[in-house]
Amino acid sequence: MDDKTLRLVLIGGDSAAWLEISEALADRSSQIFVPRDVSPSALGEIGSEIDVVIVITSPSEPDPCSPLRMIRAIGLQRRTLVIADADDQRTAAEALDIGVAGYVRRSAATEHLATSIVHVARGGVFYDAPAAAVVHGRSIDPLAGGGHMGAARALAAALELKDTYTGGHAERVTALAIKLARVALLPGALPSESLEAAFLLHDVGKIGIPESILNKPAGLTDTERRVLNTHPILGERIIAPLGFPDVVSQVVRHHHERWDGSGYPDALTGTEIPAAARIFSIADVIDAMTSIRPYRRPVSFETAVREVIRYSGSHFDPQLAALAQEIFLDTPVPVLEGPPRTDDL
Ligand SMILES: [Fe+2]
Repeated sequence: MDDKTLRLVLIGGDSAAWLEISEALADRSSQIFVPRDVSPSALGEIGSEIDVVIVITSPSEPDPCSPLRMIRAIGLQRRTLVIADADDQRTAAEALDIGVAGYVRRSAATEHLATSIVHVARGGVFYDAPAAAVVHGRSIDPLAGGGHMGAARALAAALELKDTYTGGHAERVTALAIKLARVALLPGALPSESLEAAFLLHDVGKIGIPESILNKPAGLTDTERRVLNTHPILGERIIAPLGFPDVVSQVVRHHHERWDGSGYPDALTGTEIPAAARIFSIADVIDAMTSIRPYRRPVSFETAVREVIRYSGSHFDPQLAALAQEIFLDTPVPVLEGPPRTDDL
């Protein structure tokens, strides 16, 4: 990837923007194309191998998001990086709905330009932190001091006591998910403590599930399965009074959603599922498959990652699944075995 010439398309920028991008990428090979307009035919003239589409929007335009809608129609939104005015909430909200891969405020663009372009070209997601706050319409980093991490660890420990099959799952899966998040999200886009708390607490709702169900080795009845599947909602209720950052409740509530909408509790699809929950669900299945179970032998780490690829686009975000393959199979993580768990995905 790093030796490859980056093929970029610039939409909405002037010659100064073109120059700024060229200078930001001065230490690597890149080509910047400026299409005559934003249409399938104009982009088709550039060729199929476009690494990143950079869209510079202006709130003074009557419809600043029209290029983004065309890009979605062409299917290039996951290769698109938006550079927008810092206070342009309307564009931020629509860019999120469209599912662009990156969103950077113009004031932060100089600092993040090269990193964000390369990150999106690698299939990553890049929102500079304040832009993410604009997108979500609220602060994303209310985690103050270390108090919340203490509460997160205490709750995770309480679940460990109750669920005899959990056996260190929370710690293992957190390490794995953090590793994926470090590549998939811009470092610093979400505080690592917030992500760690979110991942540690994903199954906290199981505190509210009867032990007869929780510790049943296999063969849950439909009714028991329905009860078990309430744990994301119970978890959200348990942590609600504690004032955790939003990402914690997002992971707790949505870690069993699936890309194709077949998950629970809300049957969200695609990028409706919060990014941290999409990242976590990949780590969760890898840990589940590589853990010892009473009714199944653990599979190798590589087999588990291949299974993620197999369900790419159905259970998992395809770009995150590809990223998991790239980082986990290129840099294998040692298999950490623990006692079995009942939480089949
Ligand atoms: Fe769960």
